[in-house]
Amino acid sequence: MTINPVFTNASPLASVDPERQFLADVVEGLSARQKYLSAKYFYDAAGSDLFEAITRQPEYYPTRTELGILDADGPAIASALPRRADLVEFGSGSTVKVRRLLRHLPDLAAYVPVDVSESFLRSEADALAIDFPHLGIEPVAADFTRPFTLPDGLCGQSVAGFFPGSTIGNFEPPQAADLLAHFGRVLGRGATLIVGVDLVKDVDILEAAYDDTAGVTAAFNLNLLTRINRELGADFAVARFAHRTFFNPRASRIEMHLVSLDDQSVAIGGQTFSFTKGESIHTENSYKYTVATFRDLAAEAGWEPVSVWTDADALFSVHALRRR
Ligand code: TRP
Repeated sequence: MTINPVFTNASPLASVDPERQFLADVVEGLSARQKYLSAKYFYDAAGSDLFEAITRQPEYYPTRTELGILDADGPAIASALPRRADLVEFGSGSTVKVRRLLRHLPDLAAYVPVDVSESFLRSEADALAIDFPHLGIEPVAADFTRPFTLPDGLCGQSVAGFFPGSTIGNFEPPQAADLLAHFGRVLGRGATLIVGVDLVKDVDILEAAYDDTAGVTAAFNLNLLTRINRELGADFAVARFAHRTFFNPRASRIEMHLVSLDDQSVAIGGQTFSFTKGESIHTENSYKYTVATFRDLAAEAGWEPVSVWTDADALFSVHALRRR
C-alpha cells in the first residue's frame, strides 16, 4: 500500500542550489560578531540518528515525559478535541507521539501529517495505515513554517492541530508567536491546537538534559562541523572545539554553543575565519516557558487556553488551545 503525499508549497530553496545556500548561511553566521550556525543543518543522516539517540538518554527528560503525559491524559486530551475532527500534525516525523493520541480518537475523520521529508512521510503513512486501518490519512509534503493549504478531500466537522516535542521552544519568542498565528490561519477559525511545551525548572536538570554524560548531545552539536567539512570542503579541526550548554535565565532559554579550545582559523569556500581561544559559535536555543508565559505567547497569536496537562514533577506541559 502506498499513500502519496500532496505537495502544497514549494521549498524556499527550490530555486537556489541547496549546497550554495548552505555555504552562504555558514559564511553569514561565521562572519557575525557572535558567530552562529543555523540549527536546521543539524539534521543530516548522522545528525538525525544522534538526535534519536538524545531522546533516549536518561538526562533528556522531555521526550519520555511528554509521551507519559500523552498516555496518562490521552482520554482527557482526546475529549478536548471536537467530534469527527481532521487532525493536522506540523512536522510529523516518526509519528511515535501521534499514535498515543490516535488510540483515544476512534472517530477522527482524517490524520494529516505535514513534513518536508517526502519519503519518510510516505513510509510513515503506510505504516500508520496498517495499524489504524479505519483512519483516513492525507499526508502533505510541505515546510510547515511556510504557507500551505490543507488537502481538498477533508470532510471532518472541525480541524485540530498537533505540535509536540517543544519544537515551539526552538524558535525565538516573536517567531514562535508568528508560527502559532500561522497555524491558526492554516487550521481556521474555532480550531483546537494541542502543543507540547517544555517548562522552566531547576537549572541542573535543564543543563544535564542538554549535556548528557554519554556525550550524545555533544556529538550531535559537533557533527555540524563534520558536516560542514564534508559538504563544503572546510577544514574544521573538530577535536579543537567543545560542546557547551547553559541556561540563560534572562532569556529563559538553554543555549548550545561550540567553543574553540585554541586560537585557530578555518578555511571554508576560499574564506578564512579566525577563532580566539574560548570564542563560541552559537548553534541552538531551547526556550523554556511557564504555563502562564506560554499562554501569554499563545494569546498574542490569537489562541485561548482550554486545558493544560503536566506530569507529577511539572517538567513538561501539553496545552489545548482554541482559536478565537
Ligand atoms: N525541541 C527539543 C528541545 O529543545 C528538541 C531539540 C531541538 C534538541 N534541538 C535540539 C534537543 C538540540 C537537544 C539538542 O529539547
